[in-house]
Formats: sequence, structure tokens, C-alpha cells
Amino acid sequence: MGVRTQGRGEDAHSVLRQPRLVPLHALAAGVDFERYFRWRRAREGDPFVVRFPGFGSGLFTGTPEGAREMFRAPVESLEPPRPNPVEPLVGDASLILTSGQRHRRDRALLAPAFHGARIREYAQLIRESTVHEMSGGSNGSAWTPGTRIDARAAARAITLRVILEAVFGVDSRERRAEYTAVVAEFLDAYTGPLMLVPTLRRGLFDRLPWDRFVRARDRLDALILADIARRTTHSEPRTGDILGLLLTARYEDGGTMPESDLCDQLRTLLVAGHETTATSLVWALFHLHREPESLAALRAELRTAGSTATAAELARLPYLDAVCQETLRLHPTVPIVVRRLTEPFTFRGIELAAGDTIGLAVPLLHSAPQTWTHPQRFQPDRFADRRYTPFEYAPFGGGHRRCVGAGLADYELRIALATILSLVQLRLTPRFARGRAPLSVPHNIATGPRRAITFEVA
Ligand code: HEM
Repeated sequence: MGVRTQGRGEDAHSVLRQPRLVPLHALAAGVDFERYFRWRRAREGDPFVVRFPGFGSGLFTGTPEGAREMFRAPVESLEPPRPNPVEPLVGDASLILTSGQRHRRDRALLAPAFHGARIREYAQLIRESTVHEMSGGSNGSAWTPGTRIDARAAARAITLRVILEAVFGVDSRERRAEYTAVVAEFLDAYTGPLMLVPTLRRGLFDRLPWDRFVRARDRLDALILADIARRTTHSEPRTGDILGLLLTARYEDGGTMPESDLCDQLRTLLVAGHETTATSLVWALFHLHREPESLAALRAELRTAGSTATAAELARLPYLDAVCQETLRLHPTVPIVVRRLTEPFTFRGIELAAGDTIGLAVPLLHSAPQTWTHPQRFQPDRFADRRYTPFEYAPFGGGHRRCVGAGLADYELRIALATILSLVQLRLTPRFARGRAPLSVPHNIATGPRRAITFEVA
């Protein structure tokens, strides 16, 4: 076991062993995240210790009972682990990193932007963004028969367009192109080594990877701050988008969110809100095109709904819903949910001290034998036959920090997928049509297929 029991008379302190061979663990996790977690559990049982550079050691579980303990723990005894690998991307004030009263206040301000009625307003935007990409996007080729599609690039373009317009109201071609280039540069500059090895986060005469990242972040912040300034000085808050909503929202005491905090929150929405959803769309297309029966069942449902179905109607189709849920079960793009303890807490029967980290390995939860039969298979019907508790199925995490954008992600995935399948027939290129699915590897805030998955338009 990687945990040791506390000796009598010892002060309350961590029972997690200090990290050893951390770089090797990081390498193993970087090569095959899911297998690494399975290996750790096979060695230690559940719970098991995982060691990550940048995070330190954490006690992880992959069981529904463990998920229940974590999500039901007293809110005040949990906070996000700091230092945190995503800190440079999202910033100190980000909802992902704050805790306690501050997290509660900011979440109350942001959450209404993602409530049902508002999200439904984005239906048309999602459909239009998908159709736009399929017609060639800004510079690509139209999805005509014989065209080869890089699903990841296409899905990213769709979800980035949606988030830019939903958050900043970006609807002009020039501004979209500017944002798209800067966001791509910013995300690319945050390489795996920078994420996992904090000592590399140093600059030298503007020449090191960290310098490149800081330059890209400054450029993105300059765009965001200019948008905020335009709205505040020209009093055009455009309440239709999320920035407009945040500019007019007030804390309970009547105060507004400071500009630098607002910049961190908006950068967070850009980072958290587009690659995650894009990756899920790619996996949904991938599995559907490897499972002809599922694809036929979904096409039949879409045909019955008819070509005049509104985007909102499409989002309510039961088999489409089951396909999307099954995709997020097999590929939870944010595969670990972590909390640091602010006070002693017993997790899976082990007494932990303030400062210790606990975690949920979502791929293990989503394949727990007590819940799922044949967990490695793509079987959307399992969601038609049964409902699962939030402790059995948790692609968006849970408790008081459950993903604030879950409703938007769900909606986007359903509408984009329905739109694509209604308009074209695709087939996986031979390399992906058979054999093992590509591995999921960490990338920025989430994980995604190691290689670009390609399709041909039939
Ligand atoms: C398929 C797509 C997505 C997946 C799988 C996903 C997953 C997650 C997970 C697992 C967490 C951590 C929850 C926890 O700690 O319990 C999270 C947090 C968060 N997500 Fe998402 N997410 C997705 C899309 C989005 C979108 C579209 C947005 C916004 C536009 C978003 C914004 C956030 C934010 C701000 C947090 C921090 C919430 C907090 O700590 O209070 N996510 N997400």
C-alpha cells in the first residue's frame, strides 16, 4: 500500500508516502493515462496513491462509494489543490482554483449564464457553427464526397466558434479570426512539460517555452481586456452574451467582479469550454462509425424527428442522449476530479490530514464492475435501460464544484452530432476503422485522442 497508518502519538500529518520516481509516473500517465490508473489500483487496491509532479501525492478511488464520500464531504473541508497544473492557464481568480466564500460568490455570479433557458438560446448558434464548419469553415474545404476530415480540428473549430460567440459575442469574421489564432497559440504554448514540471515555468531572455507561453497569454488577455473596456466605456454591455451578463451581474453586497478577476474567469471559460466538448464530439463520431447498429439506430431517430426539427427538439431525442452519455462514460475528457483537505477527513477508511489530496479516477468509476457490464464496449442502450446515480456516473465531477458548463456541453454535443449526421455520411479512414481505439493522453486541461482521427465523406 502507498498509505501507511499513523503511529500512536504521532501528530496529525499526511499518511500518504512522499513521492518517489515521480517523473517516471508522469511519463507513464502521459503515455496512457487510463492504464496508469489501472496499474496503480492493481498494485495497491482501492484506494491507491497516485503521484504527479505539480500535484504531489493524492489518495484516489474509482468506486461509487468513494465518489459518494468525496461529493458528500463537507464543503468547507475541501478546496482545489494548489499548486495546480492548470494555474498558469486559468489564473488565480479562476472559479476552478478559488475556494470557500469566494468560490461560492463567484459561482453564484457565473452559474446563471449556463442555466437551461439561456443555454437554449444557443441552439441556433451551435447548429450554425456546425453547418459553417461543414461548408468549409473560414479556410478549410467543404464536406463534399471524397473529402478527408480531421475530426479533431473540425470539432475544435465548431466549439471555439460557439464559445467565442456565447461568451464574448464575437460575431465578426475579423475578430473571430484574431481570437482563434491567439487562443490556438496560447493553448499550444502550454506544453506537457510546462504543465507537469513547475520548475520549467521560468523565462530567460524571451527564449524559453515559458516566455512563449507568457507572450501568448498576454496577447489573449489584451484581447479580452479590450473587449471588457469596449463594453464598459461605450456602455454597450450586450446582455445577450456571457460577458454582458457578468458586467451587469452584482454580488449580494452590490459589488461587481474586478476587471482582472473577470479576465481570469473569461479565460477559464475559453480553456474549459471548448476542447473538452470538441473531444467528446470526436469520440462520439468515432464510436458510432465503428458500431453500425448504433449509428443506424441514431440515424433512424433523426429521420423520424424530421428535417424541420428545431435544434432544441433534437437535443431531447432519447437515443441521441444515450449515445452522448455513453461517449462521456467511455471517455470522460476530464478524467480526474481532485480536492485538497482543509481539515482531517476519513476517506475510504483512511484518516487523512489537512493538506492531503483526495481524488476520483473517473475512467475507473465508469468501468466499475458493480455498475457496468462489459464496460469496455460502446453500448448506448445501457442508458436507455437504466438511470445511474451521480456517484456511479460523473463525467462532470460532482458536489459543489460540479462542472458549471455541463448543461452547455451536453446541449452542444447533441446538436452538433445531430447536425453532422443529418447532413452527411461519413466513414472512418481505414487506419481507424478497426483495431484498438487511439489512446487518450493529457492535453491542457483535459485528455484527448493521441492522434488526429480522420473520416472520409461518403
Ligand atoms: C464535455 C465537456 C466537459 C466536460 C467533460 C467537463 C468536465 C468538468 C469536470 C470533471 C470538472 C471538475 C468538476 C469537479 O471538480 O467536481 C469541470 C469543472 C468546470 N468546468 Fe467543465 N467540462 C466540460 C465542458 C465545460 C464547458 C462547456 C464549460 C464552460 C463554458 C466548462 C466550465 C467549467 C468550469 C468553470 C469548471 C469549474 C467549476 C467549479 O470549480 O466550480 N466546462 N468540468
